[in-house]
Amino acid sequence: MSAPNKSYDPVEVEALKPEEIERRRDEALAAFAAAADLDALREAKAAHMGDRSPLALANREIGALPPQAKAEAGKRVGMARGAVNKALAARQAELEAERDARVLVEEAVDVTLPHDRIPAGARHPLTTLCERIEDVFVAMGYEVAEGPEVEAEWFNFDALNFEPDHPARAMQDTFFVEGRQGKDESGIVLRTHTSPVQVRSMLDREPPVYVVCPGRVYRTDELDATHTPVFHQVELLAIDEGLTMADLKGTIEHMVRSLFGEGLTTRLRPNYFPFTEPSAELDMECYVCRGESVGNPERPCRTCSSEGWIELGGCGMVNPRVLIAAGIDPEKYSGFAFGFGIERMLMFRHNVEDMRDMVEGDVRFTRPFGMEI
Ligand code: PHE
Repeated sequence: MSAPNKSYDPVEVEALKPEEIERRRDEALAAFAAAADLDALREAKAAHMGDRSPLALANREIGALPPQAKAEAGKRVGMARGAVNKALAARQAELEAERDARVLVEEAVDVTLPHDRIPAGARHPLTTLCERIEDVFVAMGYEVAEGPEVEAEWFNFDALNFEPDHPARAMQDTFFVEGRQGKDESGIVLRTHTSPVQVRSMLDREPPVYVVCPGRVYRTDELDATHTPVFHQVELLAIDEGLTMADLKGTIEHMVRSLFGEGLTTRLRPNYFPFTEPSAELDMECYVCRGESVGNPERPCRTCSSEGWIELGGCGMVNPRVLIAAGIDPEKYSGFAFGFGIERMLMFRHNVEDMRDMVEGDVRFTRPFGMEI
């Protein structure tokens, strides 16, 4: 083993010269002081304190020195590295404090701001009620069918067996879009009911037909607490072999019980519609008092005006003339239809007293009904 090289002087090793170490130390201190943020400091740290930085390399040179030279060189490099480490830690703490102060300002949350700047919308109760009704029938195998609101007079009236001079065609009920051009031409109207969808559904399908037709309808009424010129109806149509009024009554009773409560009954009162024969008005038992308010002034019922019954809508067996107009053989098939107004149902179902609230679009009316999806 060769003896240590006694003449080896660390001051002769370039990287270990005191001026060189001081220079490297000062470079590092300057770089840390110049680092404007934590990212820049991280880079400066890699350059001046990393494994391949000049001071780290100098440190490694010490190992090659003769023992008597190691102590002095080690002390010199150690002190320089110590100073650099200290400066790094100080600058790190300084920049972290700066960042924390900035984040506190930039990400401050003003808990006094109103929390609901963009309020959630609310579905209109007419829409949700319509969908509930549709669901009742879809569950029984019915299909949802729709038709145009701007409708041919033929579908709205002629095919439904309205005589040409039927009073419902007169200007006070019907919005005419285009008058009849020739004797055999159809005019165009805003549909006054959803019954034209009956005819369209029968023409589009082969029997049996089971459809539920919700939609907007128009009549030349003034807007007041109980009338609106634009309102909604749901139409029901079933065409099959052997259908009777009993099927009609059972079907509607099922709807009434699904929407208003178990055990409720319905009753039919004779009426006239050109497109059904026989025709009836359908009433449901009052779901609030169940008849107990009748003749009982102590317990009046606002929902049915103490009548015990609530009028729902018109119904009947589809007139054979309508079946023929829609291309269906009345010898083989019979059917029933039912049509009722949704605004009216919403009124007695939720004690809405003024129909205008339903058309004005104020969410303060809509919101209490809840957000049914
Ligand atoms: N379409 C009728 C109306 O608007 C209601 C109705 C529908 C009557 C179906 C009987 C059968 O008044």
